[in-house]
Amino acid sequence: MKENRIYVSLFVVTTLLTIAVAGLLLNIAQRKQEARNRFVQVVPIADFEANPEVWGKNFPDQYDGWKRTAEAYGPTEFGGGAHRDKLALNPRLKELYAGYSFSIEYHERRGHARALEDVIATKRMGDQKPGTCMSCKSSDNVRLWNEIGPEKFFLTPMRELQHQVSHSVSCLNCHDPKTMDLRPANPAFLAAMKNRNIDLAKATRQEMRTYVCAQCHVEYYFETPDRPILHFPWENGLRVEEMERHYDAIGFADWEHPVSGAKMIKAQHPDYELWSTGIHARAGVACADCHMPFRRVGAQKISDHWVRSPLVNIAHACQTCHRQSEEEMRERVVTIQRRTRELMDRSEVAIIAATRAIARAKEAGAPEKALEDARALHRRAQFRWDFVSSENSMGFHSPQEAARLLGEAIDFARQAEITVLRARTGM
Ligand code: HEC
Ligand code: HEC
Ligand code: HEC
Ligand code: HEC
Repeated sequence: MKENRIYVSLFVVTTLLTIAVAGLLLNIAQRKQEARNRFVQVVPIADFEANPEVWGKNFPDQYDGWKRTAEAYGPTEFGGGAHRDKLALNPRLKELYAGYSFSIEYHERRGHARALEDVIATKRMGDQKPGTCMSCKSSDNVRLWNEIGPEKFFLTPMRELQHQVSHSVSCLNCHDPKTMDLRPANPAFLAAMKNRNIDLAKATRQEMRTYVCAQCHVEYYFETPDRPILHFPWENGLRVEEMERHYDAIGFADWEHPVSGAKMIKAQHPDYELWSTGIHARAGVACADCHMPFRRVGAQKISDHWVRSPLVNIAHACQTCHRQSEEEMRERVVTIQRRTRELMDRSEVAIIAATRAIARAKEAGAPEKALEDARALHRRAQFRWDFVSSENSMGFHSPQEAARLLGEAIDFARQAEITVLRARTGM
């Protein structure tokens, strides 16, 4: 009897164990399958598929978000979805950019789905735009860089490339179509990172959530006007004086200012570089954390592909980390931006005073040495102001660095003015 009971218990225990182990194995198998099918592909995506609509068949939520980047969702105090005419809003820009294409037309940026039509529409550079101008505007680039190589791409005039390009910034710019992993594709970015000894193969997922943006939202330049190969000036580092050192070393200038005669550098949109000096970069907060925050769609958590101003989305963009109210968060941003704007106004006034003083001194026959010294100071002042002005966050991405640069801009501009005044009065 006793033995029978032992056998029965053993049998029960073994059966239960078997069921448990089988269940566990089944569970693991399912998880593995889920991991493999993390992205269920309804249609296969070709290696260089530039059309976001095709990707959208597999990922309708991300596609819908992306499509919304075409919307004019309304202005915030300093940014947002409004295609402002910067020249009409700030007449000083015409004088600051005199002699350069930005004094002809300068609109505020819009969303990713609009990038291609906007670059084609811009009057800057007229018919002479090289293919390089298309580098950050289209997903077809990724295919073309593979087909014809980056160099040929950059050297082909845009009006010729235009026919081979039909999709704006979209999926293929940021994702590998096979794995859906993030991967930057811009050859200038890949080369610049190599120069900095950063191995992208070792980048963390969190770093990639910034790097995919850093292939476009950066300072860049063309090798020469005749050879418009795209480069990022990062040899010495990402800070303004480090980039300036690079530009000085290669004798680079975008144009000569017709009023002062200074050889100028035009800052592009150094969002990544400014961000990299700020407290959020220090804390490991990526571009995507604020501009593509997670949100729930049914049972799923997805990244919001409607890339836009975080100020219209504070609950997802900021309050996942910050406990303050929406109003308080907005107030903190706008306070930083207003202070930046005030310092920018002062810099603009100081730089314009310097340019005019140099022109007057030249007319009055001031010695060439003083004029050259003042022009060098004009170049330094304006690059710092332009860096903050062309960056897209009105100082928010790194408030202290923005203030430091504008402080220097004012100082260099006034030094330029004093230099020519002294030369004229012989003091
Ligand atoms: C901590 C949050 C945060 C991070 C991280 C961040 N941004 Fe921003 N970004 C903002 C805020 C806030 C603004 C100001 C929006 C406004 O004025 O409406 C902004 C503005 C912008 C704008 C202009 C948008 C507009 O509507 O005016 C661009 C472009 C941008 N950021 C790109 C980037 C890139 C690229 C990175 C990473 C290198 C980055 N941002 C990192 C919060 C962030
Ligand atoms: C392939 C180049 C490219 C990549 C990659 C890219 N951007 Fe952009 N982005 C642009 C261009 C170009 C514009 C301006 C389009 C226009 O004005 O027509 C823009 C505009 C924006 C704006 C302004 C939107 C608005 O409503 O005004 C924000 C914000 C932004 N990008 C953030 C990001 C973030 C964050 C990432 C990375 C997750 C990123 N971008 C990756 C090229 C790019
Ligand atoms: C400007 C860069 C950029 C573009 C353009 C872009 N994505 Fe993404 N995508 C991201 C980032 C950043 C993530 C977050 C990845 C992470 O956290 O590892 C992401 C995540 C995803 C994911 C994973 C799930 C999720 O939502 O987090 C899918 C699927 C996806 N994207 C599909 C698309 C599709 C489809 C398109 C085109 C319609 C597209 N993406 C365009 C940057 C981009
Ligand atoms: C992924 C987390 C995360 C997100 C998202 C985030 N922040 Fe932060 N933020 C931080 C951390 C971490 C710090 C640094 C706190 C510290 O060290 O005291 C910080 C600091 C700040 C500061 C203080 C800066 C200073 O110099 O003291 C402000 C202002 C701020 N964040 C605003 C925002 C706004 C606005 C947003 C949304 C657009 C945002 N943050 C989104 C994590 C985040």
